[in-house]
Amino acid sequence: MGTSAGTSDQIERLRAEGLAALAASRNESDLLDAKGRFFGKKGAISEILKGIGSLSVEERKVVGSEANRARAELESVFEERLASIREQERVAREGLDRLDVTLPGRCQVPGHRHPISQTMADIISVFRRLGFSVQGGPDVEKDYYNFEALNFPPEHPARDMQDTFYVESDAGDLVLRTHTSPIQIRTMERMRPPVRIIAPGAVYRSDSDITHSPMFHQVEGLAVDRNITMADLKGLLTEFCRMTFGPGKPLRFRPSFFPFTEPSAEVDIQCVICGGGGCRVCKNSGWLEILGAGMVDPAVFGFVDYDPEEFSGFAFGMGVERIAMLRHGISDIRLFFENDIRFLSQF
Ligand code: PHE
Repeated sequence: MGTSAGTSDQIERLRAEGLAALAASRNESDLLDAKGRFFGKKGAISEILKGIGSLSVEERKVVGSEANRARAELESVFEERLASIREQERVAREGLDRLDVTLPGRCQVPGHRHPISQTMADIISVFRRLGFSVQGGPDVEKDYYNFEALNFPPEHPARDMQDTFYVESDAGDLVLRTHTSPIQIRTMERMRPPVRIIAPGAVYRSDSDITHSPMFHQVEGLAVDRNITMADLKGLLTEFCRMTFGPGKPLRFRPSFFPFTEPSAEVDIQCVICGGGGCRVCKNSGWLEILGAGMVDPAVFGFVDYDPEEFSGFAFGMGVERIAMLRHGISDIRLFFENDIRFLSQF
């Protein structure tokens, strides 16, 4: 053994070899073997400590403390490795690392479209099949398109039918559109007859209760051509109703008024909840209003330079929430916009 410097090198080498042997151990018996060789009772480091008596007092101190430190370090690494090997063995023994193909899968719940979007898409698809194309327009609309060109003169009391949100702007008189009817005007400015379009979109009115929401959705329809009559309107809406609610649901046309149609009608469908007998949803009338409609007023053609002697047309505007409520038997419109996942996940 000789000098303490030589012994120090030897301890350092044994420490490194011992750590390597512990790291290379794959099971408990490898670990015990490494312990036996390097730092167990008869291991190489213990042998050094046993031979310490032949050294000087100074050397004894240095070598003793180095050997003890190395042994303690190896001992603690040994404990750590032992615990981790035992844990690995337990996992393997209990089969925790194996794939159990008999367990039920963890499914990802995919989202889906909002019930209003679903209903809107269904309405659009019905009219597409009937030969209508889709048009759009801005939500923030000029007073001209929302009212004036639809034959609502300024200050005319018909404007009070719709509680309007006005928008402050330097660009002139702007409103949040109160209906999708302005798209009738925008379309006729761009196209010559024959016109057959629908226009879906959000609309806004300062109105809120169980059947009114300040933002809701409409699908507008417009057909202009030679010889269009109210019979075409009735036929189209009857077919729409059959395709949306199924056969055997009678429609009812009631006389009404809109400045941009003449004659005008409101259209009711027999209550899908009670079948016409009377219930809470139809307020005991047996009928539910789903849309406004009529023949395009010749005055409107004046705003877009269509000749009312040559062309005639019909228009309608339906409430999408109304139709979704009927399809699903929902009695409070506000449920659509509260974003409660328990409600939305039912559709
Ligand atoms: N725009 C009308 C409304 O929102 C509905 C309507 C559209 C009536 C087209 C007639 C023709 O009340």
